[in-house]
Amino acid sequence: MTASIAISGVRKSYVARGREVLALDRVDLDIAPGEFVAFVGPSGCGKSTLMNMIAGILPIEEGSILHDGQRVNGINRAVGYMTQQDAVLPWRTVEQNVALPLRFHGVNGAARTKRVAEMLDAVGLTGFGRSFPAELSGGMRKRVALAQLLAYEPRTLLMDEPFGALDAQLKLLMQEQLLRIWQAKRQTVVFVTHDLAEAITVAQRVVVFTGRPGQIKQIETVTLPAERDVFKVRFLPEFEAAYTRLWDALAPEIRRGEAA
Ligand SMILES: Nc1ncnc2c1ncn2[C@@H]1O[C@H](COP(=O)(O)OP(=O)(O)O)[C@@H](O)[C@H]1O
Ligand SMILES: [Mg+2]
Repeated sequence: MTASIAISGVRKSYVARGREVLALDRVDLDIAPGEFVAFVGPSGCGKSTLMNMIAGILPIEEGSILHDGQRVNGINRAVGYMTQQDAVLPWRTVEQNVALPLRFHGVNGAARTKRVAEMLDAVGLTGFGRSFPAELSGGMRKRVALAQLLAYEPRTLLMDEPFGALDAQLKLLMQEQLLRIWQAKRQTVVFVTHDLAEAITVAQRVVVFTGRPGQIKQIETVTLPAERDVFKVRFLPEFEAAYTRLWDALAPEIRRGEAA
């Protein structure tokens, strides 16, 4: 079977103030169609860099990334990308914000109106279409970003610390909503988080990166069923075992970064 995302030999360095910084090195990873994968690693290990490369926003200079068998070379329109700074525009209503990616994909008229209504319903924002983002709570704003991400039904979702700024309870609700959507549509999902518990709660595999230059250190297969309860999983022995193994892999990387 063709991988949804095939990353091989990816290496990336930046030049900042005349100095070369190696951000990622020798990254190889295959992600299967419909798989939900989480990336964790210390801050600055290149997670966002790798996401930008899968999205085709950042050129791939060394190594290659194939998405659904096609080499990523320029903006990859087959993925939906929720960046660390979401793309919700404050001067547009919720409806207009959700309609934006559809406009870019040439969906117009009644089809667009219908799709926007469906998306608002899917994320629990029916009745808020005419509101402006500033009138919404943080969690509702995140749901607008989620509706935007899903609007044109991309086969692959890239989510970079999407719920990072939310409080613990709201985070659980968003995770639950995302899992429900994924269980229905089975998109391929790459989800970056700095929260190990969140990674285990949502993902089928958790990839741990080393500190810079980011390399894959360990991959944990989460043995919890795909249909899972985000509130209850953390009390299961499999969750605790996965957490311990992941923490043992991640902690030295974080400590190394703090010492540097
Ligand atoms: N545009 C850039 N110019 C120079 N250095 C950058 C740039 N973007 C990222 N970096 C550096 O590359 C490393 C990886 O960054 P990033 O991918 O944002 O990491 P993460 O998302 O894991 O926190 C960091 O050291 C960061 O400072
Ligand atoms: Mg980042």
